[in-house]
Amino acid sequence: MITLRKDKKDFWHIYDGKTRVGKIYIKTIDGTPHINMFINKGQQGKGIGRIALKKACKQSRYKRIYATTRKGNVASTKAAKAAGFKEVPSARQRQLVWVRR
Ligand SMILES: CC(C)(COP(=O)(O)OP(=O)(O)OC[C@H]1O[C@@H](n2cnc3c(N)ncnc32)[C@H](O)[C@@H]1OP(=O)(O)O)[C@@H](O)C(=O)NCCC(=O)NCCS
Repeated sequence: MITLRKDKKDFWHIYDGKTRVGKIYIKTIDGTPHINMFINKGQQGKGIGRIALKKACKQSRYKRIYATTRKGNVASTKAAKAAGFKEVPSARQRQLVWVRR
């Protein structure tokens, strides 16, 4: 089971059972929350990212959270879309937004 352990404000360690598999955090840039996530190399592509993203968004107090990914970063784009993020048109980078329901 994938769980998040909060470390400090807007920062969580990601666990798969008892194993730490990555980290996820939200930073506010110009008043807007942006989420970033890193899954350890050997644990990528197993569906952990999308679960962690959704959980972190829900546990945070934000209504709207942005994720900016490089256009070539297929894994992060797929994980974000699977977590409920929607793409917003943007000039250079790919930007996605999660909105609390
Ligand atoms: C991006 C990242 C957080 C995604 O987490 P994850 O646990 O690997 O994501 P998931 O397994 O939930 O989903 C990834 C999807 O991308 C696919 N994928 C994974 N690695 C891939 C790769 N190298 N190339 C193409 N597709 C890939 C998976 O098969 C899965 O596709 P699916 O939806 O068709 O099943 C993780 O891969 C990572 O930490 N990467 C390095 C750091 C990084 O780029 N962070 C993002 C900064 S915004």
